[in-house]
Amino acid sequence: MSASATTSSCTLTGKIALVTGGGSGIGRACCQVLAREGARVVVTDVTLQAAKHTLALLPGGQQHVAVAMDVRDRRSVEAAMKSAQDQCGAPPSLLVNNAGVLAFAPVLETNDDTWQKNIDVNLTGLFLVTQAFARSLLEYGKDSKGAIVNIASILGKTGSLEMSSYTASKGGVITFTKTCAAELASKAIRVNCVLPGLTDTPMLASTSEEMRENFKRLITLGRFGRPEELAEVVAFLLSERSSYMVGSCVEVTGGYGM
Ligand SMILES: NC(=O)c1ccc[n+]([C@@H]2O[C@H](COP(=O)([O-])OP(=O)(O)OC[C@H]3O[C@@H](n4cnc5c(N)ncnc54)[C@H](O)[C@@H]3O)[C@@H](O)[C@H]2O)c1
Repeated sequence: MSASATTSSCTLTGKIALVTGGGSGIGRACCQVLAREGARVVVTDVTLQAAKHTLALLPGGQQHVAVAMDVRDRRSVEAAMKSAQDQCGAPPSLLVNNAGVLAFAPVLETNDDTWQKNIDVNLTGLFLVTQAFARSLLEYGKDSKGAIVNIASILGKTGSLEMSSYTASKGGVITFTKTCAAELASKAIRVNCVLPGLTDTPMLASTSEEMRENFKRLITLGRFGRPEELAEVVAFLLSERSSYMVGSCVEVTGGYGM
C-alpha cells in the first residue's frame, strides 16, 4: 500500500496520534499513514493482539505503542489513555475515533441486542473516548493544540435498508461531531468527521454478496474504496493543512450517495 511511499514533507512529525479500532481495516490504514506522516502512533483495539498486529506493520522509528482499549467501557478507555500518556511521556494530541461494528436486520426484526451493539460501540464509545482524550489533553497544558477525526459513514446521512441501528449510530456521530467541534474549538481542539462509502475491509466482507453487489451498482466510480484512500483524508484533517476546517463532514465515497 501507499503508506510505505515517501512524501516530500511529513505533516505530523512530533505528534502523538491515538487510533481506536486500529487493528483492522480503515483503522489499520490510518495507523500506517499517520506513522508515515511522522506521528508516533498509539494503536488501540479491543484486544491487545489486534493492536500489536498493526504495530508490527508500522514504518518509521517513532516508538509506536499498542494498547488494549474497549471503547464501550469507561474504565478501559481511561486506563488506555493513561497508559498511552505514560508510555509516550505526554497525552495524544491527535485522535481517530474509528472503532466500529456493523450488526444489521430489518427494523421489524431488530432485537435489543442488535440495536445496543451498534449504539454502544459506534456512538457511546466515541463519546467516552472523545471525553477522555480531551480531558487528558486539556489537563496536560492549556497550550496543547489537538485534532479529532470521527469515522462516521455515508449511511449515517442516507440511511440504508436493514441497517436502522447502524445508520442511527452513524447519524449520531455526525451531529456529535458538530457539537464537539463548536464546544472544543475555543480550547484549540478541532473536530471533523469523515463519511466513508463502501470500503473494502473485513466489515464490508461480513455483508452478503447480494448486499455488496446492490451497493456497488450505486457507486459512481464502480468500485469499493480502499482503506488507505480513507486514511489519506484522515491524515489531512488531523494536520495543520486543514487548519480552517471545523465541524466538517467529508464524504469519501467514490460518488455513492451524492
Ligand atoms: N468498511 C466500510 O464499508 C465502512 C463504511 C462506512 C464506515 N465505516 C466505518 O469505518 C470504521 C472502521 O470500519 P472497518 O470497515 O475498518 O471495519 P473492521 O471490522 O475492519 O475494523 C473495525 C475495528 O474496530 C474494532 N472494534 C470493534 N469493537 C470494538 C470495541 N468495543 N472497542 C475497540 N475496538 C473495537 C475491531 O476489533 C476492528 O479492529 C467503523 O467505524 C465503520 O463503521 C466502514
